Amino acid sequence: MGGQKWTPIFLWATNNTTKRRRGFVGHYLSMPGFIEQIEPLKQAALAELRAAGDTSALEQARANFIGSNGKFTALLKQLGSLPKEEKPAAGKAVNAAKVELENALAERRRELELSVALPKEPTDFTLPGRRRILGKLHPLTQVTENIVRSFRKIGFVVADGPEVEDEYHCFDALNTPADHPARDTQDTFYVQKPGSASSPDSVLLRTHTSSVQIRVMEKQQPPVRIIVPGRVYRRDNADATHNPTFQQVEGLYVDRNVTVSDLKGTVEFVFRDLMGPETRIRFRPHYFSYTEPSFEIDFSSSLTRKMGKEWLEIAGCGMVHPKVFENVGYDPEVWTGWAFGFGIERIAMIRYGINDIRLFYENDVRFLKQF
Ligand code: DAH
Repeated sequence: MGGQKWTPIFLWATNNTTKRRRGFVGHYLSMPGFIEQIEPLKQAALAELRAAGDTSALEQARANFIGSNGKFTALLKQLGSLPKEEKPAAGKAVNAAKVELENALAERRRELELSVALPKEPTDFTLPGRRRILGKLHPLTQVTENIVRSFRKIGFVVADGPEVEDEYHCFDALNTPADHPARDTQDTFYVQKPGSASSPDSVLLRTHTSSVQIRVMEKQQPPVRIIVPGRVYRRDNADATHNPTFQQVEGLYVDRNVTVSDLKGTVEFVFRDLMGPETRIRFRPHYFSYTEPSFEIDFSSSLTRKMGKEWLEIAGCGMVHPKVFENVGYDPEVWTGWAFGFGIERIAMIRYGINDIRLFYENDVRFLKQF
């Protein structure tokens, strides 16, 4: 027995398990060096792992003991040279210790990672929370919503139609003949039908929301009282007052005995609602192929005076042309109506004093934040 004492061995053997191990005590004595090394080595490793102050220290501790050149790994390797009958118990013991070390390593790693993630300063839970910056509606959306709200007050409903249109709804049905300048390919974006490599045919991006007048009247019998906010497209070069896409609002009212004074009264009501009660409007004779008579609408208010003008042109309008009624199957002898159209950007520019239409399309948050 070479002066071996029972004590360390026995202590180890009582370590959490078991009577079975005690039964092997006699064997341990024959190779005490191996078994005896486990516990002190494990304790040293645990101490170093637990003391690691950061992940690199932890990695060092891991390498020192259970890395490929670690002290504990070296002990494990000795297992192979033990006498056969001692291997099961010794193996079990050394593996249990290894599992313990690996658990300790994982636990310390978690602790260290958590301490990095947690705030260094104590948290004051009574402080008010940080508010997220909320998005806002685009100024054009805000103006559109205002316009819609005004018209709803007097019984109009919102209608919708396709942005990719055909020539019939955009021009022909609106009594715009094929040789009309508005149909010039210089002004209109034509769309090629998928699969047709040939020259552009009659599919186009609508140049105005007036096409929706036709779409609605084709489907619905009078009375009609609609407004149509929507996007339109024209082949303009962008500058301070032009953009290849912009927004319009179309209005259409069809019933029996509708007159120009209905039109004037409605436009006046809406513009006063939108631009202030001192707003005045005036009609000037004009030409549109789908209305007869046709007018341009000017308005005057403190806003126009701020822009250095008494009157600003704001919209086109008129009494629906009998041809248009015929095209949708309404009897022009029975039904009368008026229509108008105006640009939303123009209203927004006047309202907010904006001098460049492109600002609405650049999406610069410094601009958008102001509304
Ligand atoms: N479509 C015209 C334009 O884009 C505006 C317009 C004028 C619409 C007269 C109408 C109207 O409904 O009657 O400039």
